Amino acid sequence: MGDDKYEFTVDWFSQYWPNWLTLTADQTISKILEIGSFEGRSACTMIDHFSKTAPLEVFCIDDWAGGADHNEFDMEVVEQRFNHNIQQAVTATANAVKVQKCKGTSIEMFGRSAGQRLPKLF
Ligand SMILES: C[S@@+](CC[C@H](N)C(=O)[O-])C[C@H]1O[C@@H](n2cnc3c(N)ncnc32)[C@H](O)[C@@H]1O
Repeated sequence: MGDDKYEFTVDWFSQYWPNWLTLTADQTISKILEIGSFEGRSACTMIDHFSKTAPLEVFCIDDWAGGADHNEFDMEVVEQRFNHNIQQAVTATANAVKVQKCKGTSIEMFGRSAGQRLPKLF
């Protein structure tokens, strides 16, 4: 993925992307539910790739609240980078892409009425 249009400061994802490509090679992906979006690197990578072949709906859950694992980050700035990066990703895609930003914990998103907007997992 060319990162020029994006603002990322950390990379927890790229090393696993080849595995994702292998696992999804014979599938058409049209709906994605991501728990933990941070700056949007994984979401943008998936949007860039999967929107080439089909319209895409992406749900991004994150509370952008920091916590023990992310104490060193200013999560307000992280969230602003997410907003910027997703805006970049959905601009000029081959197929339509709809991203729903779901701000809150995964428990909140699945446990409350907001969960009705999310795809069901079986
Ligand atoms: C390792 S980062 C995600 C990395 C991201 N997928 C990427 O590609 O850069 C983990 C993220 O999960 C979020 N997070 C952790 N636990 C969560 C929870 N229970 N509900 C929602 N978000 C959570 C954190 O706020 C953080 O932004």
